[in-house]
Amino acid sequence: MPQDRTRFFEVLLGLIGTQLIALAFGLYILNEPSRITQTQTNILHSQLDEAMTLYAENCAVCHGLAGEGIGANPALDSEALRGMPYEELVKTITRGRYNTAMPAWGLQDSGPLSDYQISELVSLIQSGDWQATQDRVVNLGLAPLVPFVTDPDPGLLEAVASLPDGATLQAAIQLYAENCVACHGADGLGTGIAPALNDPAIRAKTAEELTRTVLYGSPGTLMAGWQNVLAAEQVASLVSLVQRWEEIPTGILPAPDVPIAVTAESLALGEQLFSQNCSRCHGPTGQGTQRAPALNVKGFLTQTSDLAIRQIVTLGVPGTAMPAWGDRMTEAEIQSIVGFIRQWEATAPEVATPTRGGGGGPPWLRNQNTATNTTTTNPQTEATAVTTEVAQAQTTLPAAGETPATGQGAGQGQGQGQGQGQGGQSQPGSSASAAWWEALNWQALLLAVGILTLAFTLILGALEGLKKTPPTP
Ligand code: HEC
Ligand code: HEC
Ligand code: HEC
Repeated sequence: MPQDRTRFFEVLLGLIGTQLIALAFGLYILNEPSRITQTQTNILHSQLDEAMTLYAENCAVCHGLAGEGIGANPALDSEALRGMPYEELVKTITRGRYNTAMPAWGLQDSGPLSDYQISELVSLIQSGDWQATQDRVVNLGLAPLVPFVTDPDPGLLEAVASLPDGATLQAAIQLYAENCVACHGADGLGTGIAPALNDPAIRAKTAEELTRTVLYGSPGTLMAGWQNVLAAEQVASLVSLVQRWEEIPTGILPAPDVPIAVTAESLALGEQLFSQNCSRCHGPTGQGTQRAPALNVKGFLTQTSDLAIRQIVTLGVPGTAMPAWGDRMTEAEIQSIVGFIRQWEATAPEVATPTRGGGGGPPWLRNQNTATNTTTTNPQTEATAVTTEVAQAQTTLPAAGETPATGQGAGQGQGQGQGQGQGGQSQPGSSASAAWWEALNWQALLLAVGILTLAFTLILGALEGLKKTPPTP
């Protein structure tokens, strides 16, 4: 009987539909715990990502590229801190440490960071990846550029021995070379981030005043207190160096040379910027042209430190065709170019073979190149371009007397961190199909098929009913 068969078919379909729906719910429930873990991992991941940018913008100047600590500023990459209770860390960062260089960062203490941002930083300290943090700091151009130690000139150091109480001065010069030169500069003449100590106005201060500053620092500035780092007699010797600097021969404390840190990303950016902006004068491989000298030669590279190259590129060479790039490029961009140029050193020829003319292309095109902005064209570096722009606003190290905290830095940090992360993670197209497969939601599919089957059964039943001849009495 056809009618019985349809009936049977309907019942079967109805059963299958119900089973599918039940299965879909079963799978959903089974998957729930792993889904929760996955979500938690994702949240932690994006928190750490944002925290690395916050660290780069606010903390790296004092706590170092990778949380290793600088001078009197303690390391944050430490077992002790990883073991410190969560609340304790939150409190330290929110309120700062009274009477030390560690400022208060919490909004309620007039700092720039929200509670959420501070909790992100605590996650970084407790479970972050300091190597990745270092890369982030470098890519943002926020690596503390000032190198931290130098070697006193041995001949001149010898000569100091003949001064009255020469041994104390010698010891102080050594201490200065290890601890203070980074900020207070070669021969104590100051840098962009700290005032000169070799200065009549400073010599005029009393020993008590100077000792107090060295011991306790100058709260709210980069000048940390050294009382936990240096012994009392070491501080005393430094104070006498500051007071007697007139007697010390110049050149005894040379400017230190430490290479600009690079990452694969920054080198790629440097290469791209060099070919866009420099190659038409300096040649595509830096071998020089009629317009500008070679950069890719042994002599230049061995004699010129990264800091000096950075200075030349930033300020240009006044009175020559060498433009100042400081106002058209961000600090991160300039550093990336310096890193790229430095790479040539290993293979640089003794004598350059200059390229004829310029880097090619019609002159009107070349002119266009000079004027326009440097990045933004290549989609691959888009993320970098965006981040470096923000970096520019942040790069200027706090000047003496200013607090290093910058309100905007914190606010911008979030979006920026994400841009970066995506830039780094974007994968080649090969994984596209895999992603599609993974994205397919099996439970939803089963549920949909189940519902469709049931609906189909109902329709079938309805049609059956319509077809039926009016019931026989
Ligand atoms: C101007 C320099 C400076 C800046 C900028 C700075 N710190 Fe500090 N920080 C210090 C100093 C100095 C100390 C040590 C204070 C003390 O003696 O107790 C310190 C201590 C700390 C400690 C406690 C370390 C310990 O061993 O007890 C934490 C945590 C910390 N800083 C986190 C941060 C974070 C996070 C940032 C960025 C939001 C930051 N700091 C920015 C100077 C700085
Ligand atoms: C991280 C950078 C940094 C380091 C390292 C540093 N200083 Fe300073 N120092 C500063 C800044 C910034 C100031 C200005 C503080 C202010 O404006 O009150 C300063 C101020 C001073 C002053 C007071 C100057 C004045 O005008 O009265 C003395 C003295 C001094 N530092 C000595 C030292 C000695 C000695 C060392 C090494 C043991 C040292 N500093 C290491 C950044 C630094
Ligand atoms: C319009 C031509 C021009 C462009 C573009 C140009 N330079 Fe130069 N550059 C020069 C000239 C000319 C000199 C030599 C200045 C002098 O006489 O001291 C020079 C000198 C230099 C020096 C010092 C070389 C030495 O031997 O002392 C460096 C480093 C340098 N340029 C880097 C760059 C970088 C990096 C770029 C791209 C961001 C760049 N230049 C773009 C023309 C140019």
